[in-house]
Amino acid sequence: MKASLIRYTQNLPDVKELGSELLLIHDDVLPRKSTTFKKWMKQIPLRYPVKAGEQLKDVSYFPKHISKITALCENASTKKLTVVVVGGGSVGDFGGFVASILKRGVRLVHIPSTWLAAIDSAHGGKTALNVGGAKNQIGTFYPAAEVCMVKSLLLSQPAPRAFEGFGELLKIALIEGGTLWSQLSKEFEVNEEVLWKYLAAAVKAKYKVVQKDPHEKKGHRHILNLGHTMGHVLESYYQLPHGISINYGVDFALRWSLEKKIMKESDYEEIIRKPVMAYLLSPSRDELLVTKSQALKEFRRLLLSDKKKTDSEVLRFIFVKKPGQTVVQEVHVDDILIEICRQKEEELNG
Ligand SMILES: NC(=O)c1ccc[n+]([C@@H]2O[C@H](COP(=O)([O-])OP(=O)(O)OC[C@H]3O[C@@H](n4cnc5c(N)ncnc54)[C@H](O)[C@@H]3O)[C@@H](O)[C@H]2O)c1
Ligand SMILES: [Zn+2]
Repeated sequence: MKASLIRYTQNLPDVKELGSELLLIHDDVLPRKSTTFKKWMKQIPLRYPVKAGEQLKDVSYFPKHISKITALCENASTKKLTVVVVGGGSVGDFGGFVASILKRGVRLVHIPSTWLAAIDSAHGGKTALNVGGAKNQIGTFYPAAEVCMVKSLLLSQPAPRAFEGFGELLKIALIEGGTLWSQLSKEFEVNEEVLWKYLAAAVKAKYKVVQKDPHEKKGHRHILNLGHTMGHVLESYYQLPHGISINYGVDFALRWSLEKKIMKESDYEEIIRKPVMAYLLSPSRDELLVTKSQALKEFRRLLLSDKKKTDSEVLRFIFVKKPGQTVVQEVHVDDILIEICRQKEEELNG
């Protein structure tokens, strides 16, 4: 897989640098929120605004979208056309998929507008659509020729979204270990400036994993799922933002790693003593692990609907030995439920 060119800029790039003929697919909130963006986008005549969210990725709406997009690009040249996608992960998944099939594949540039997209989803080439409510069931591997990280665009998000972005940053820092972890872990507060400061290192760390397994054939990319097994359950059950759920999912994975003795107690103590962990551990987390049988039943169903399951009731779970060392183990879905009850019990006993 060809690596994407990554650029970090303060402001939106000169449109002439993005390609000779451009189709802009963008989140429709952006021009409403920023006059700078509105002015910038007007330099690109072919524009396709979309409403972000899972409905955009719903395959049943796709024929309508692609008909309109093809009509819009009727006179564009296959060789010269570049699809420029500006938005969060949903717009990126949709726009990347469009670029991969439009005229049998045209050049793609991602300009992420959410922290989640900047740290994670704009990199690695995965595009996706949802089928019948099930997430990411179809898609392509189609890395962008270029990913352009624009500080002013990322900072235009409301401040609470920094906490969401932190979930993905913490995940990749634990996977990478080394300097990224040792420096990030010393931070007392994670705000937008801190996210921007670590963005390049986080992106580099993701590419390191992706390059070893570009098409997810060898299983190496699974480690990027750290925090996501339990994270996805909490996300669906409580309708929480993705990044927040991942914060909780990472915490769950660390505690289980200790319980299973994959992580040494001294290593666990060292991790949770780090200043940044105080930021992670919100008291409301304990209320999320409910152990009533009805909730557990629903957790079980959600765990099994995760597409990463390997066998009927077995899932691949990502544990942490220490920062920089992850361990993938197959676990039975009921083992996860038992662990939820154990962690809840541990909390209740203080
Ligand atoms: N392809 C991958 O590798 C990959 C990885 C992780 C997640 N994803 C996908 O990413 C999606 C989630 O990403 P997301 O959280 O970025 O979602 P999103 O695109 O739905 O954006 C979330 C919200 O933020 C708004 N928004 C976007 N930019 C903004 C800005 N600058 N200022 C204010 N509001 C802004 C959007 O309108 C939307 O309401 C999911 O569909 C998930 O499946 C893909
Ligand atoms: Zn994620």
